[in-house]
Amino acid sequence: MNLIFFGPPGGGKGTQARLLQQRRGMVQISTGDILRDAVEAATELGVRARSYMDRGELVPDAVMVGIVEERLRLTDDAAGFILDGFPRTLAQAEALEELLGRLRRRIHRAVDFQVSAETLVRRLGGRRVCQAAGHIYHVEFTPPRRPGVCDLDGSPLYQREDDRPETIRRRMEVYRAQTEPVLEFYRTRGVYAALDAEGTVEEVYARLEAVLGL
Ligand code: AP5
Repeated sequence: MNLIFFGPPGGGKGTQARLLQQRRGMVQISTGDILRDAVEAATELGVRARSYMDRGELVPDAVMVGIVEERLRLTDDAAGFILDGFPRTLAQAEALEELLGRLRRRIHRAVDFQVSAETLVRRLGGRRVCQAAGHIYHVEFTPPRRPGVCDLDGSPLYQREDDRPETIRRRMEVYRAQTEPVLEFYRTRGVYAALDAEGTVEEVYARLEAVLGL
């Protein structure tokens, strides 16, 4: 099954995509993680992307479409994939449709993570991410066993640069203005599914499996 995860910053897309990957073997393709790896490695892409990410703006469509095409070509068809954070604009959605047509693949569900603004602020304020592999924690809701250290690989946890209050505000505006209109694109194609993403990680996961019919 091939999925797209939509939702505002902090909606829980990355957390749930990683769970589906662990438990159901689907392949998570997170454009945010790919960009952060490039920034960390200071590649040409990373240097270019950083200026947009630090301001909470979107990286240009042509760059993002190229990245996703490369990843999709490397992904085994049998497992299914989860596009986490892509497409984020109508131009990206149209480019994806064209690309999937060429690869003879399709999207089965576009899941819309619905969360209140109050919850988003609490989730983003406490998020910590592991340096080595991007494992996601929260200081209050899903803390690591040892503060500041990843349970899974022992690497240090850090706070994302774009989780500062002024950047969070801008990311939310960008989501409303540029990404919410893309939901209509998938509604008209009959694959849209709303997900109540409030509650604990396991409560949301149970609802997600139900929405997907797993
Ligand atoms: P990206 O990394 O995709 O960020 P985002 O969409 O803003 O989403 P987040 O990663 O902030 O949130 P999430 O929904 O994954 O939440 P998470 O699971 O971590 O993009 C970053 C930037 O890259 C963009 O601003 C842009 O510049 C660029 N970019 C990326 N893709 C692009 C594209 N296609 N085009 C152009 N530019 C692009 O959860 C958040 C916190 O809450 C965590 O601490 C977690 O532990 C906690 N949590 C999660 N679920 C629960 C729960 N149920 N209960 C309690 N706590 C929870």
